[in-house]
Amino acid sequence: MAKSRLKICLSVSAMLFIIVSIVTIALIFTVFKPKDPNIVVHVEPVDLLSPDMPIIMNISTLVTIGNPNFGSFEFKKSYSYVTYHDTVVGTVPIESQLVPAHSEINVSTYTLMTVNKLINNPDFWKEVVPGYKFTLISKAEFPGKVIVLKYIKLKGTAYNTCNITVNMAPGSHDVKSICNSQIKIH
Ligand SMILES: *[C@@H]1O[C@H](CO)[C@@H](O)[C@H](O)[C@H]1NC(C)=O
Ligand SMILES: *[C@@H]1O[C@H](CO)[C@@H](O)[C@H](O)[C@H]1NC(C)=O
Ligand SMILES: *[C@@H]1O[C@H](CO)[C@@H](O)[C@H](O)[C@H]1NC(C)=O
Repeated sequence: MAKSRLKICLSVSAMLFIIVSIVTIALIFTVFKPKDPNIVVHVEPVDLLSPDMPIIMNISTLVTIGNPNFGSFEFKKSYSYVTYHDTVVGTVPIESQLVPAHSEINVSTYTLMTVNKLINNPDFWKEVVPGYKFTLISKAEFPGKVIVLKYIKLKGTAYNTCNITVNMAPGSHDVKSICNSQIKIH
């Protein structure tokens, strides 16, 4: 008697769990449609034209990841690739992170910049000589999962692209990033 009651109880719990999961997933895709994250890669300004430039430079970099969703987002270790006119000139490792719901985190990392690949590109000098400015593009994919109510996990990937404008005008070194990010639930 006790055994079958336990069985009924367990199967009712299982049913409830399934129903709650389905309703939650349905809500995520309708009412709470996942919003795109806000990911910005901030590269520290450096003087690329100093006479003693190393071939590979380690530049301090901050990656800000904002999660506007009501679920948290957890992603695996990722890399952002920095290109100049389609040539990869830098990589930015980004350690795995959990970004809680409705919050923003800052991840301190670095960009390994292959300076010679950049300055050996003839386009680089065409751009830098007149304007003291050039633009890099960074692209990253963050494969991970959206976690809702602790136990519901949806696989998703966040995609991020930034236009990084480096201004090397004497006395006003700065780096501006304008980024666009998206999340896709698989
Ligand atoms: C770059 O610098 C950071 C911080 O100083 C350090 O943790 C990292 O190991 C360096 N990376 C390489 C490949 O030298
Ligand atoms: C992340 O860093 C940016 C730039 O330094 C700062 O404006 C922002 O407040 C920081 N956010 C958090 C959550 O620490
Ligand atoms: C980056 O620059 C390209 C070309 O100038 C432009 O089409 C694109 O919209 C820019 N991206 C962002 C995120 O501003």
